Amino acid sequence: MERDGRISLSSLESLLNTKSIAQPVKSKVEIWDQIDSTNTRAIALGTEGAESGTLVIAREQTAGRGRRGRQWTSPPDSGIYASFLLRPPIAQMDKLSAITLGAGVAVAEAVEKATGIRVGLKWVNDLVLDGKKLGGILAEMSTKDGIVALVIGIGINVAMDAAEVPEELQNRMTWLEAATKHPVDANLVLAELCLSLERVYDAMLDNRTESILDEWRTRSVTLGKQVRATSGTNEFEGTARDITQSGSLLLRLASGEDKELHAGEITIRSADGSYC
Ligand code: BTN
Repeated sequence: MERDGRISLSSLESLLNTKSIAQPVKSKVEIWDQIDSTNTRAIALGTEGAESGTLVIAREQTAGRGRRGRQWTSPPDSGIYASFLLRPPIAQMDKLSAITLGAGVAVAEAVEKATGIRVGLKWVNDLVLDGKKLGGILAEMSTKDGIVALVIGIGINVAMDAAEVPEELQNRMTWLEAATKHPVDANLVLAELCLSLERVYDAMLDNRTESILDEWRTRSVTLGKQVRATSGTNEFEGTARDITQSGSLLLRLASGEDKELHAGEITIRSADGSYC
């Protein structure tokens, strides 16, 4: 996605305005025509000692990974498939327990700046547009000899061919160009994403997580809604009331009891009473 739509190192470099993430481009950014998974590659780079701010991008993933072992459909030049390697000091890891929500804020801000589209955030890692999934976040972490490799994997659908979307996803997924109706410059979205992620990451390490969570609340499509939540083998229904400092979801159950979900997945109740 150069000016003609392909992601390229030179276009990204000309648009990038960060201090540390993906800078300097020549040593910190890898762009693959095809790879199994950018997250898998970023984790490998992490164990090899790559620097914080390293960015792995692919035009196509053959084994893109989603949460809960799901596959992430990643056809060629149809989306942004990007993984950021960050190296927070191990003693500060507790400040990043809501990093998945923070990454959601960064994506929403970047997409809005680059395209004008306002993306909704659904707990915990979903990017939503017109009630359909636009993208998602997969954060993974490893530690070796006391050194952390935190990988933030981000997938954003940009330009899909409706005819190629699997039947079962037709009503559930969308892409940026379905909304803009004109070509989107993925290089610009990516450059804005680097800048926004740097802002969010710095804020969280600087004890300003609450202001990032306020941004999440403003962009949330979850809070105030009736939701059905799955956490492990348990299922709950209730009203999504708030998120906590550590990124958990607070539910008020029908019984009046409050439930804090640290992990899991939710579906949101629609006007017709169905959950999606
Ligand atoms: C989800 O919603 O389940 C998370 C999807 C995350 C997909 C991205 S695409 C770039 C990175 N590489 C992967 O294999 N997964 C993430």
